[in-house]
Amino acid sequence: MEVIIRPSHDAVAALAADIVAAEVRENPALGLGLATGSTMELVYDELAARHARDALSFAQARTFNLDEYVGLAGDDASSYRYYMEQRLFSRIDVDAANTHLMNGAAEDLDAECVAYDQLIVESGGIDLQLLGIGRVGHIGFNEPLSALRSRTRVKALSPQTIEQNAALFGGDASRVPRHGLTMGVGTILDCRRCVLLATGESKAAIVAKAVEGPVTSMISASALQLHPRCVVIVDEAAATELSQREYYRWIFENEPEWDAFR
Ligand code: F6R
Repeated sequence: MEVIIRPSHDAVAALAADIVAAEVRENPALGLGLATGSTMELVYDELAARHARDALSFAQARTFNLDEYVGLAGDDASSYRYYMEQRLFSRIDVDAANTHLMNGAAEDLDAECVAYDQLIVESGGIDLQLLGIGRVGHIGFNEPLSALRSRTRVKALSPQTIEQNAALFGGDASRVPRHGLTMGVGTILDCRRCVLLATGESKAAIVAKAVEGPVTSMISASALQLHPRCVVIVDEAAATELSQREYYRWIFENEPEWDAFR
C-alpha cells in the first residue's frame, strides 16, 4: 500500500483521473471498477472534462459499480445507476451495454449477486477499481464485520451508513433503503489495482485506522493492506490523523512509479 497526500479535494480528483487516463490509454478495453458518493463527483467531472478536452476515450472500456440499493430500479433518482448516468456515463463515450451495476429491483437478489461476480470474471476481471471510504470504514456497502473473503451479496446497512447517505434521500434517513447489494471484500481484492480516495476532516480518523491499524473485518477498508497494488490518495484534511505522513510524502517523492504523476 502507498499513501499519497494532496493539498485539496480537487488535487485528489485530478490525480485519480490521471491514473484512470493512463490506464485506459494503455488498455482501451480496461475493466474499470467504479464507486458513487460525494468524493467521486469531482473525479467524474475531471474524466468528463478530459473526454471533452483531450479526447480521452472510454469507447471500449467495461465498467462495474461496487454497489446498489435494494429495492431501487435504475431509473429511480436515488439509485446508483441513476447517479452514474448523470455524473459520468452520459458525459463520456462509454458504450451503455458495457456499463454494469447490479439491479436493486431484481426479483432474485441472491442470483443477481452470483451472476454479477460471474460476469466480472467472464469479462476479464477488474483492472482498476476506484473506491471511497465510508465513516464506518466500509468499501462498497461492506459494513463492519463483513467477511474479508466475502463475495457479492445482499448486506444490511449500518445506522451510520444510513445516516451518511440520507442526503441522497432529501435528508430523510427513514427513506434510505435498509439493504444494499455490494461486491464483497474478496471480490474487490481480486482487482488488479485499486485506488482508495478520501477527503475532508470527517474521514481522518477512519483513514488512519484503515491504513495504520490492524486488518480487521470491523473496518473493511483495512483489508486493502492485503492488496498487492493499492494506493490511498487523501487530501491534507483527511490525512491529519495519519502518524507517518512525512514517510508517505518521502515515498511519493522517491518512487519512480510516480515520476509521471508528480
Ligand atoms: C458507494 C461506495 C461507498 C462510498 C463511501 C464514501 O458506491 O462504494 O463506499 O464510496 O461511502 O462516500 P462519500 O464519498 O459520499 O463520503
